[in-house]
Amino acid sequence: MKIATILGTRPEIIKMAPIIDEISKRGIDQIILHTGQHYDKEMSDNFFKDLEIPTPDYNIQVGSGSHGKQTGLMMKGIEEVLMDEKPDIVLVQGDTNAVLAGALVASKLHIAIGHVEAGLRSFDMTMPEEVNRRAADVTSTMYFIPTEESAINLLAEGFSHKNLFITGNTVVDACFRHLEIAKKRGFEEESLAELDIENMDNILTLTMHRAENVDVKERVTNIIGALKELKDMNIVFPIHPRTKNTLENFGLFDELNDLEHVHIIKPLGYLDFLLLTSKSTLILTDSGGLQEEAITLNVPALTLRYNTERPETVTAGGNILVGSDKEVILENANRILDDEEFAEKMKNAPNPYGIGDSAKLTVDAIEDYYEKGLLNIEAPEDIMSLFTRKMASITEDITVSEFEENENSLIHMLFDGNEMRFPSDDLNLKGMMITYDRRE
Ligand code: UD1
Ligand code: UDP
Repeated sequence: MKIATILGTRPEIIKMAPIIDEISKRGIDQIILHTGQHYDKEMSDNFFKDLEIPTPDYNIQVGSGSHGKQTGLMMKGIEEVLMDEKPDIVLVQGDTNAVLAGALVASKLHIAIGHVEAGLRSFDMTMPEEVNRRAADVTSTMYFIPTEESAINLLAEGFSHKNLFITGNTVVDACFRHLEIAKKRGFEEESLAELDIENMDNILTLTMHRAENVDVKERVTNIIGALKELKDMNIVFPIHPRTKNTLENFGLFDELNDLEHVHIIKPLGYLDFLLLTSKSTLILTDSGGLQEEAITLNVPALTLRYNTERPETVTAGGNILVGSDKEVILENANRILDDEEFAEKMKNAPNPYGIGDSAKLTVDAIEDYYEKGLLNIEAPEDIMSLFTRKMASITEDITVSEFEENENSLIHMLFDGNEMRFPSDDLNLKGMMITYDRRE
């Protein structure tokens, strides 16, 4: 079996690293294709070193540009590599342009696609990431889904539960493994030594790069307004290149940089960043990955967005959406600082993203599909079977797989009381309401 991993940005490298590592350990043939969307060493090369994974076999160096140009160039480059390498499955991760390009190209070449971190939905189609993740989900063969909530998003859109694997999120694998390594190594980045971060209290780690925040002057101004007033905090801000550019263009960079309690530094390597976040009192962010890492590292998070595709972090109690509203940011930040009981509750929120075995579960499922021949994408040769859509209330003891076999059917939706649940094979259906397709 040959597995091709496509990645292009910082979070994709971090979240694919545990899977790349697992594939290597099992001796499976693999290639890594970098789109070159992120190219600064602080946004790309350093992560291959920190996460101890092989450097990419291909880099198609698309660089920065508009969405159409970037995605188009990626598609051209990815197609050439995939036609040459002929992998059995292509893995894409998350919701960047690499995911859109990789999924579209692989599907047209009839190569199976595994979407890692599938099923997330912000329901905000103005976000490029929402378009990318939905397109990847439409074209995928296997879905590696962090939580039952995200799996239910896919069921509600009509996807078959048979190809959905609830694996947790590989960010937990990366976080647990590399925090240990980081603790043994200690801080390495010079800018952190200069700040004497070891002995610093009341650290607020800030990251922001989301287009809908940093490209809109009014929103950045509001956020900076809140930062100015958080004088009791040591705000450490490893700045994303996009944000540095826009702050400079808006003439806001110096104003922020001149604040005594705000420390703007270049983007950090993964080990330094994990040490910084785990030592923080509070994380203020619009990052997707950081919302997950905050709850994994037991640090309260305030998310600078009006919606999130990670609602589990909010319902678990570890994350609060504050938008870019100065007063809402201040009210919640001050509460975390002043109200110990409230802060403790946020810290102790249960982690919805698993126990750190996500890479193992993902590669197990891929090997199983390969052995069963389920990665072969071929035009059908059987006349399609017709089916009727039905609903039933189940009164007997019967599991999902027994029901599907007895009734020659596929369960779509499953309600336990008024809660939708995921139809895992061994779930007992007694007392539940289901919808299903019955083949004639
Ligand atoms: C991209 C992803 C976003 C992800 C983020 C992770 C898309 C649509 N967006 O956003 O989902 O959360 O990566 O960080 O795929 N730049 C540099 N050096 C670099 C990379 C970028 O200077 O190495 C600057 C360029 O000016 C570029 C800007 O940052 O125009 C934005 O980069 P881009 O990759 O287009 O989007 P991100 O904001 O990084
Ligand atoms: N990160 C890092 N150094 C930094 C800032 C972030 O290593 O200076 C890591 C962080 O731990 C997380 C990932 O980058 O795993 C998040 O990437 P980003 O916020 O760029 O993208 P998103 O997750 O929003 O797509």
